[in-house]
Amino acid sequence: MPLDPASAAPLLPTAYPVQDYDPLMKGMVIGGIGILHVFLASFAIGGGFLLWWFEWLGQTGREPLARRFIDSVFRALIFVSFIVGALTGVGMWLTAIQISSPTIGLMVDVFHWVWATEWLFFWLEVVAGYAFFRYGDRLDGRTRLRLLTIYSIAGFGSLFWINGILSWQLTPGEWVETGSVWAGFFNPTFWPSLLFRTVVCFTLAALGGTIVLNLVGGFTREERERLLHRISPFFLPMLAMPFLGAWYLAAMPEDSRDWILGGSMVINMFFNIAVGASALIGGYGVIALWRQRNFMNGATATLLAALAVGATGAGEFIREGVRKPYTVRETLFSTAVTPAQVATLRETGILATDPYPLRDPEAYPTDQLREGRLVYRNLCSICHTVHGAMALNALMGEWSIEQKRLMVAKLQWTGGYMPPFAGSAGELESLVQYIAWEHAKRPKEWRESRDPEVIEEIERMLEEATTLPSPAAQKAAAGEESR
Ligand code: HEC
Repeated sequence: MPLDPASAAPLLPTAYPVQDYDPLMKGMVIGGIGILHVFLASFAIGGGFLLWWFEWLGQTGREPLARRFIDSVFRALIFVSFIVGALTGVGMWLTAIQISSPTIGLMVDVFHWVWATEWLFFWLEVVAGYAFFRYGDRLDGRTRLRLLTIYSIAGFGSLFWINGILSWQLTPGEWVETGSVWAGFFNPTFWPSLLFRTVVCFTLAALGGTIVLNLVGGFTREERERLLHRISPFFLPMLAMPFLGAWYLAAMPEDSRDWILGGSMVINMFFNIAVGASALIGGYGVIALWRQRNFMNGATATLLAALAVGATGAGEFIREGVRKPYTVRETLFSTAVTPAQVATLRETGILATDPYPLRDPEAYPTDQLREGRLVYRNLCSICHTVHGAMALNALMGEWSIEQKRLMVAKLQWTGGYMPPFAGSAGELESLVQYIAWEHAKRPKEWRESRDPEVIEEIERMLEEATTLPSPAAQKAAAGEESR
């Protein structure tokens, strides 16, 4: 049954308690684990295909050295990254639940059966992988190849299913209107994202294989060269990367694309890092190894692998970055408030939905400061900290109190990566007072500021900002002026 997107996210940010990782911002915690996970899991998937390829070369007599390579540490390396990949996958769930339970809740709601299917594939991967790694030596050739076929296909299958859910977050497509699970799954960035990730899997496997080949003993220089040339086809898919990248960009929402191509300095910088690193890896892999049959030594391969870590990290950062201010575009802001809820929350206040106390209420001299801290926790802490990463103290501490009010009231107008403020005017004042108090190094005394004139002024600013996200807010405001 299709799910109505509007009712799919009735949860508010505080439906579950939130976890603080100060001085790291929450987004960074999940991003960090995510990057590690993607890297290891991609390597394990591509490595499965590389193992299959070598097993086949060996069994068909095309490459007598193949079996020795498989039985070297390469097999163990794939296994270890597969295990750590799975563990960090569980880590993703744990942090996602603590950081934004409404987001992960929506993902589970919408894609219940897709997750279940992904889980079955994962299971198959575990069983086939374990059987091969544990009993491979004792099995006959056909069974070995069969296990590797199952392992590779199951690994790719889990990528296939998870890719639909991840790409849906950036481009939910027609799901937003129809609520159709398949429209959400096969969304506009599904294919470019899947193919792109597949290329990454193959490249990482090729790099890993090259490093291992250089490190393990027992091969002569000539043998190494021969095996390297056998690995080199795994670099070839990289030739498609520029096209897949362009396709991916074209399928993205316009504002996301603009950020990547220069609109956001940070995201653009990561984009350039990813492109530059990929060009180096692909250029070296394809030209040197495959075309010219050059040798790649361990140092070069390790350097290229380090670049690959950078490129994978940058790629994931970009994907998360361009989705701002949403965790699911058009549907759920990063603060786990839905666009439709903003107008209501401006009336009722966000704190009416938050039953959880502060950890250290006695540290704050007034109720207003306690309230401000809670507003920060609900509406800012997913992307900012107070004194650590993306520190509000550094970003706005110096500003005058009026500037602070105006900026927070028009939050979505600042570059478009923040959602509209989803609280009442009184809460906004509490937040601004709280940040000023933190900037003043938490003095023991602080005056409460509940001047009705100030609150009225903030209400006017909030109205001017509208409850819409950017850029709709700016358009609506401009339309009002020209009328
Ligand atoms: C979805 C993530 C997100 C949320 C939620 C968010 N911000 Fe931001 N904010 C950002 C990003 C990204 C930047 C850009 C940082 C930079 O330029 O270094 C930013 C920048 C800022 C800046 C600096 C703006 C400038 O132009 O100098 C301030 C001030 C700020 N945020 C305050 C807040 C406050 C207060 C809240 C909570 C009411 C909040 N933000 C909620 C992501 C977010």
